[in-house]
Amino acid sequence: MSKSRFRHRPPSGVALLCVLKFSTVFIQGWIQAHAATYKVTSQVYMDLTIDGVPTERMVIGLFGEEAPKTVENFRHICTTGIDGITYKGSRIHRAINKFMIQGFWFWYFEDENLNINHSRSGLIAMANRGPNTNGCQFYITTMPAPWLNGKHTIFGKVIDGQGAVHKVEQQKTDSDDFPVPKIIVEDCGDFPMTDTYTVSDDPYE
Ligand SMILES: *[C@@H]1O[C@H](CO)[C@@H](O)[C@H](O)[C@H]1NC(C)=O
Repeated sequence: MSKSRFRHRPPSGVALLCVLKFSTVFIQGWIQAHAATYKVTSQVYMDLTIDGVPTERMVIGLFGEEAPKTVENFRHICTTGIDGITYKGSRIHRAINKFMIQGFWFWYFEDENLNINHSRSGLIAMANRGPNTNGCQFYITTMPAPWLNGKHTIFGKVIDGQGAVHKVEQQKTDSDDFPVPKIIVEDCGDFPMTDTYTVSDDPYE
């Protein structure tokens, strides 16, 4: 077969599809190969209710090596509390469908490790109002949110019960994104684990 004849033949639909499929697989593979992984050093749980109806339990893995101070603060508020006050009984005061849900607290502390990217759903981070104003208001992503990269400290990921997060994000809200039903952190605390493990920031995982 002559080379030129081969070169001038237009690619068939099947060939095009193969190329497209290959590119998708290739891009996906590239992201997987370049995914960062983070070590989960401890876990906490959070049980929410929506107008009194329990959702599934959320288990949150915490990145104690990436953001030690933030993790310690968050763990502290989830377990013993500051002056005995924990997240228990606090309200989820913001829910934006296809973005995030946010819980409430007041206590300012410094930014820490802004290098982990908002690459996937289930990442938990501290909200702030400018540098070093983390107010223990945590939020959990429900999809990648790259525009927040470098602005907020991500310190963990929902390991189990992300369904609860999606349930919250789908609730009716008022014009300030405040959920209409009463969404409460009914309970929270330590969720012991036997050994550390890693999670990846790969959205395809
Ligand atoms: C986060 O994303 C930026 C580009 O937006 C990239 O340069 C950086 O390497 C990423 N960080 C990690 C830890 O993957």
